[in-house]
Amino acid sequence: MVNYKIAPSILSADFSKLGEEVDAVARAGADMIHIDVMDNHYVPNLTFGPMVCKSIRPITTLPLDVHLMATPVDRLAQEFAKAGANVITFHPEATDHVDRTIQIIQDSGCKAGIVINPATSIGCLDWVLDKISVVLIMSVNPGFGGQEFIQGSYRKIKQVRKVIQESGREISLQVDGGINGENIRAIAKAGADSFVSGSAIFGASNYHGAIANLKQQLL
Ligand code: DX5
Ligand code: ZN
Repeated sequence: MVNYKIAPSILSADFSKLGEEVDAVARAGADMIHIDVMDNHYVPNLTFGPMVCKSIRPITTLPLDVHLMATPVDRLAQEFAKAGANVITFHPEATDHVDRTIQIIQDSGCKAGIVINPATSIGCLDWVLDKISVVLIMSVNPGFGGQEFIQGSYRKIKQVRKVIQESGREISLQVDGGINGENIRAIAKAGADSFVSGSAIFGASNYHGAIANLKQQLL
């Protein structure tokens, strides 16, 4: 029995009341809080810095799952770790020395993960699988919430699940982008165990209902 996780992305929250929004999804059954960090450089959008992470930290005991779409990665990752992050994922394209970045994240006390863009080959996992805790497959191009799930992602999810199984390690396979009640079951069937969802949760009038609906599909 897979222990599925739902990670609401606060990218789609109402920023004018961010604390209440985090609290609301935590009470509604979220398993972690996904924080999309965008720098207007690696991706064409600008969101949260470590100070926002630090303000959210006292609001919930749930793990803070920081998805860095920013460059350079190393110093920023350390700042997010100090600000209370539990998991930090980054794009290998955004850092010069991937192995060093993984080490820096782990030395800061966080779990480290690699993010694979829609057009990035999974070959980049070859030499890091013995170290990382998460593989995050982007099922949209990073930068914005509310985009449509890219159908080709299913094939990639299946391939990565196989590679994880062969590694014999406990690595979470997270998928991010365009996930909703219609497709979450198929994404799980392809091999995902962790699901980032922004608009399908924060766009709903009832967060509890939205998360329950996603979980229901996974039964
Ligand atoms: C995109 C972000 C996603 C995004 C998901 O760059 O990494 O986390 O917020 O939002 P939805 O669920 O709306 O696609
Ligand atoms: Zn994300």
